[in-house]
Amino acid sequence: MDAISVIRTKRDRGELSPEQIDWVIDAYTRGEVADEQMSALAMAILLNGMNRAEIARWTAAMIASGERMDFSSLSRPTADKHSTGGVGDKITLPLAPLVAACGAAVPQLSGRGLGHTGGTLDKLESIPGWRALLSNEEMLRVLDTTGAVICAAGDGLAPADKKLYALRDVTGTVEAIPLIASSIMSKKIAEGTGSLVLDVKVGSGAFMKSIEDARELASTMVGLGTDHGVRTVALLTDMSTPLGLTAGNALEVRESVEVLAGGGPADVVELTLALAREMLDAAGVKDADPAKALADGSAMDVWRRMIAAQGGDPDAALPVAREQHVITAPASGVLTRLDAYEVGVAAWRLGAGRARKEDPVQAGAGVELHAKPGDEVTAGAPLMTLHTDTPEKFDYALRSLEGSFDIAAPGTAHEATPVVLE
Ligand code: URA
Repeated sequence: MDAISVIRTKRDRGELSPEQIDWVIDAYTRGEVADEQMSALAMAILLNGMNRAEIARWTAAMIASGERMDFSSLSRPTADKHSTGGVGDKITLPLAPLVAACGAAVPQLSGRGLGHTGGTLDKLESIPGWRALLSNEEMLRVLDTTGAVICAAGDGLAPADKKLYALRDVTGTVEAIPLIASSIMSKKIAEGTGSLVLDVKVGSGAFMKSIEDARELASTMVGLGTDHGVRTVALLTDMSTPLGLTAGNALEVRESVEVLAGGGPADVVELTLALAREMLDAAGVKDADPAKALADGSAMDVWRRMIAAQGGDPDAALPVAREQHVITAPASGVLTRLDAYEVGVAAWRLGAGRARKEDPVQAGAGVELHAKPGDEVTAGAPLMTLHTDTPEKFDYALRSLEGSFDIAAPGTAHEATPVVLE
């Protein structure tokens, strides 16, 4: 077998054989297939696609490239959630402890932000002392004692994906449905969760801009999970505007704690509860009431124990950026549009995100919203507050926010986009 014949097969719109797929994933992981060859193959896949059998084999080969975790020693059923990524998407933070408080175990392997989308680990690292890197034994211990753990995937889990994802990121080949589906599902299946709820985001701030593409990605991932014995369901949810009122690391932790305290923005609460119900249902946990677990403080108790078990101080003050800049509404009226992508880019440019994988992030940086689509705004009143430690970044962020919102005449009817689309 050789890389050039595999590339030619896909370049010429052929179907990759199981042997070709197994070989190329294994040889790439071992360094025998070069990055330039794998990037040619990834581009051929992006342009010409893969059929269901090819995607299934590709996913299985990526799982086989590393270890599989085993949670069978736990007394509770396991449920995990994966979001395809968005702006202000802090849902994992309240969701994991909430579902644990309702009786399932939540092994949540999470990632870091890249580009305009935030990462759960970057957000949690704004809590003083909190550690994302746990050994497999530590992860199991935190999960067993608190019911939930949010941590980084170890190097041994789907190493082929780790290498391939980094390559796709710099070769313009991230946005291929077969590659996204196999990347996400190889990690989730190798992680060993019994059930999985996928939050597939749709809109300007998401990978999938159209509902049709989101549906195709969702059904591909549900098929892969189901074929590997993981009870998998997907919700398609709106990402045309940011979730909640914050995009940034410590800012989003603060908002998540508000949700756990029984408050928080309505859209964050609604999505957290919708995903919690799906996770509990998929895990077979009956008669749990997630709304009650938010209201009575039991989800907050799990949060505090989970953060402390990973070295964090749940009572510590969160970092605040050194500088703020307020953007005011240029007119009075109804905010009819606030674009997720533009807000995400602004938060990223203010220092909440990174341009390259190895860049640091600022814990306090980001964008705080004072209004959401549908709200009445008054000329001169604050619309957004930008936060950063490096004020020279304000200009750069302000440029990305030009044209990011529309204000219609006072009293204009606004039809709200539902949070859960399908
Ligand atoms: N998230 C992943 O883990 N992989 C992708 O390919 C895209 C998003």
